[in-house]
Order: sequence, then structure tokens, then C-alpha cells
Amino acid sequence: MNLSSTYLGLKLRSPIIAGAGPLTNAVDSAKRLEDAGVGAIVMPSLFEEQIDAEALATTAALEAHMDSFGEAISFMPEPEEYRIGPHDYLERLGQIKKAVGVPVIGSLNGCTRGGWLSYARSIEQAGADALELNVYYVPTDGDESSEQIERHVREMVREVREGVEIPVAVKLSPFYTSLANFALRLQEAGASGLVLFNRFFEPDVDIEELDTVSELRLSEPVELLLRLRWIAILRGHLSASLAVTGGVHSTGDVIKSIMCGADAVQMVSELLRHGPQRVTAINEEIAAWAEERGYANLNEMRGSMSMQRCPDPSAFERGNYIHLLQTWGRR
Ligand SMILES: Cc1cc2nc3c(=O)[nH]c(=O)nc-3n(C[C@H](O)[C@H](O)[C@H](O)COP(=O)(O)O)c2cc1C
Repeated sequence: MNLSSTYLGLKLRSPIIAGAGPLTNAVDSAKRLEDAGVGAIVMPSLFEEQIDAEALATTAALEAHMDSFGEAISFMPEPEEYRIGPHDYLERLGQIKKAVGVPVIGSLNGCTRGGWLSYARSIEQAGADALELNVYYVPTDGDESSEQIERHVREMVREVREGVEIPVAVKLSPFYTSLANFALRLQEAGASGLVLFNRFFEPDVDIEELDTVSELRLSEPVELLLRLRWIAILRGHLSASLAVTGGVHSTGDVIKSIMCGADAVQMVSELLRHGPQRVTAINEEIAAWAEERGYANLNEMRGSMSMQRCPDPSAFERGNYIHLLQTWGRR
């Protein structure tokens, strides 16, 4: 069966995208992902801190150089010739793009409106077919309002959008007061797609050492439910593409995501645990499952369980809540 899907205007042969993570960081593993059947590859992020640190280091080096060798200034190349910034990232992106036939999506990750955003253009020039902008921000300042935070993100999106021709997807956290409204505003600001949701890495507490403990845990399937709800809610409101990231582990998870309205799903943890070949098995299983039930393509099932089209839309809101609490333990 034909598993093709359209995401960010890109034609994908499968709705399964290898999400940003260690496997998409090297030519070899990117090729293995392609051989296994992914529809696209999202590179790990180029981080605001990485860009700023390298820019600072270069400025410091140049200043030190100028101080000690004033006469050397005339030998300095023009600023645009300086190789400042994370060139390794851009080079690798170019190498991966050359090595694989599937679309390659670059990723920028940060939270301020600074010069680092101009790297969107560099990522485009390095060959990316699209860009994922990951706004990883934890608001801790009680004086900062939700309106200020959302405006700030919209301005970031607009700035990136204006700098590039390629489609821009925004990878969001679920922690916005009115996500449905914010999603629409992001679409207006130029987002071609939304990727739901960022997993924040939550610090634990060591009660003996009185310290925080940061550990990166791979995801669990239960994390998908939050994503399914929001994909199902947003599908009716937005024309932008929607992708799930977080908790996609099985064939059923991919099918559910598509039925709720996802154009694509991203997988990371499952592929780290079981290797790229897991994609081959899931692609085959989706095709077999869908054929058995008479679907000719994925569009026939896409959105069938969105809030607009499912038999009980209230389930995605407050519906069933009291009933579930009151009948707990009786089943
Ligand atoms: C080791 C590791 C590295 C990751 N690096 C990035 C990254 O560079 N940029 C990003 O946006 N997400 C990154 N992620 C998050 C994943 O892209 C993905 O959103 C998250 O793991 C949830 O998907 P999953 O349940 O399929 O793992 C990383 C995740 C892991 C486990």
C-alpha cells in the first residue's frame, strides 16, 4: 500500500520521520534510517548557546589578535569571510543531504530573539529541505505574562520565516494557556507546521546530596496520549501540517496519530532502543493493517478520529471526566 504523506509541503514516502536525536547526527546512521524506510530525517538541533559560544570565542580571538598585532588588521578578511558559527553542523547537514534521497530537516533550538536566528538561512543554504524551530523555554519569571511569552515566540517565528524560503515548523511545549489560539497565531506568523510536543528534561532531586539530578530518559508510550489529544483538537482549526513527537513506539501509535490528524510522526526513543530497522517493520505493519481494513491510502484514515470527526468529541475536552472518576475500580 502507498504510505505517502505530505508534510510541510514535502512529499514523504512514509509518515514516519526520524526525529532529532543521535541517529540523525551522522551520515552512516542517516543512511541506515533511509534504507529502513523513513520518510524524512530531522537533524539534531543547532543550539542558540552553541552559536553564541562560537561567535563569542571568535570575537575574543580576533580582539586578542588585534590588540597584540595592530598592524595585522589590514590582513583581516572581511567579516563575511570569517568562519564563525558551528560550521561542523552545517557541513554535516550538507553531507547528510548529499548522502540520502529523503528530505532532510534542519533544527534550530533556542529561546531568545538574537543573531543566532540568522542561522536559519545558513541551514537553508547548507541544503535543508525544511527547518524545525524548537522553542525550548521554561518561563520562571513571575513578571512575564503569557501574552509577552507568546508574542516573543511569534516574533521569533516571523523573523525566521522572513529569512528563508524553505518551510518552517515550530516544535512546541504543551505549556501554553490557550494552545488552540496560540497555534493559530503561529500559523499566521508563518509556521508551515507544528511539532507536538517538546519533552522537557525534568530534573529529579537527590534527597541525600541535596542536589538536582539531570538524567535523559527515553520516552514511554503513555506520553503519546497528550499528543493525540492536541493533534485531534488542532486538526480542525489549522491548515498547517501537524507532526507528533513523543511516545510513538508502535504501529498502533502511528495509526492513532494519523487518525487524530497528524500528517507525520517523529520517532526517536523507539529507534534508539531497537535500531532503524524498526521503521521497516512498522511501515509493513501499517500497510498490512490498512489493506486488511480496505483503506487505499493514509489520507482515507487521516483525521477520522479528530475532534471534528470522531463520534464523541467531548472525550477530548472535559467529557467522561466525572464518570471515569466515579467508576474507578468498578471495571
Ligand atoms: C538523546 C536525544 C537527543 C535529542 N536531541 C534533540 C535535539 O537536538 N533537538 C530536538 O529538538 N529534540 C531532540 N531530542 C528530542 C526528540 O527529537 C524527541 O522530540 C523526543 O525524544 C520525543 O520523541 P520520542 O518519544 O520518539 O523519543 C532528543 C532526544 C533524545 C532522546
